[in-house]
Amino acid sequence: MKTLILNGSPRKNGNTAALIKLLTENLAGEYRIINAFESNISPCVDCGYCRKNGACALNDDMSGVYEYIKDCDNIVIASPVYFSELTGPLLSVCSRFQAFYCSRRYLNIEPIGTWKKGGVILVGGGDGSFGTAEKTARILLGQMGTNTFFPPVVSQNTDIIPASEDKSAVDDIIGLADFFTANTNPF
Ligand SMILES: Cc1cc2nc3c(=O)[nH]c(=O)nc-3n(C[C@H](O)[C@H](O)[C@H](O)COP(=O)(O)O)c2cc1C
Repeated sequence: MKTLILNGSPRKNGNTAALIKLLTENLAGEYRIINAFESNISPCVDCGYCRKNGACALNDDMSGVYEYIKDCDNIVIASPVYFSELTGPLLSVCSRFQAFYCSRRYLNIEPIGTWKKGGVILVGGGDGSFGTAEKTARILLGQMGTNTFFPPVVSQNTDIIPASEDKSAVDDIIGLADFFTANTNPF
């Protein structure tokens, strides 16, 4: 089993990192974490290449991520909410999924093929709803070929309780790991 985790937090010992650590400790198989704030991945510049070719013209670390997306079984989007959205650098990395979108829309080619399970992990200080970030994450997971989703794991009051001590979030992370491990994908 292979799991890709896209991390939108810049904080190495922050709340998102704590929940990702707990998830990976409970995951079977291998995993790969992409830290959006540190990655060598440029944003999409809408050059139009993928409309005709179904692949991206930019040559950077996203090439390996595209391959891992195609290959993996599970994908997680994990992020703090910044002004109720996923963080900017994470959205920047995810803008490169335009290659998948264009392959489907303009070339009628399914770029991923195998179907995957998806999960969303969101943390926030306690000042705002998660609805916008959840919706964005679901759109992005869909672009990566996920078709079965675990309910979002949220820790909404990190200013008061760190995510690592938020029992509900911790329990839900274990549930997410179990969901990935179980052989329940009907597709
Ligand atoms: C620029 C910025 C915007 C933020 N916007 C929100 C917000 O809209 N709602 C909220 O609950 N917390 C917000 N926060 C707080 C973070 O989401 C919170 O501190 C979170 O736990 C940080 O996660 P991390 O430790 O994984 O980086 C914001 C923080 C920053 C720096």
